Amino acid sequence: MLVVLVVFFLGLLSQVSGLGFLNPKVRVYLINELGPGKKLTINCKEKNNDLGWHQISYREMYEWHFRINLWRTTLFWCNLSWHKSGVTYYGSFKIYDAERDEGRCAILCDWKIRPTGLYAYTNEIGNYERLYRWPVPDK
Ligand SMILES: *[C@@H]1O[C@H](CO)[C@@H](O)[C@H](O)[C@H]1NC(C)=O
Repeated sequence: MLVVLVVFFLGLLSQVSGLGFLNPKVRVYLINELGPGKKLTINCKEKNNDLGWHQISYREMYEWHFRINLWRTTLFWCNLSWHKSGVTYYGSFKIYDAERDEGRCAILCDWKIRPTGLYAYTNEIGNYERLYRWPVPDK
């Protein structure tokens, strides 16, 4: 119980003071690797915090950062879309989930967005792994 209280107050102090020793700053990068001339449209959200619409060209990067909340429930979803030969590929993906990602990518979570899916850098593997495929497009 005492331990819980101490951790709680340290966390609170860390948030209030902005020191962030218990809730480090995390950066998320999305890199467009869809191919030359292919644009990637991005809209990410955390609860009521809408990061807006962005469009990036091939090899460009979209980036944002934040601190994980004290309860480790920080969660960002992104709607991503792109086009190829008149077909729109679209998906809603969990891009940052503190529960999944605090260990997986720690403070730098970068994603390569490719025609074959979404690849995230995972520390244990020391490489990118595909966490999502694009859903089959609507006809
Ligand atoms: C994604 O799009 C759906 C449907 O248009 C919308 O309801 C949802 O809020 C969007 N999510 C994000 C993360 O932008």
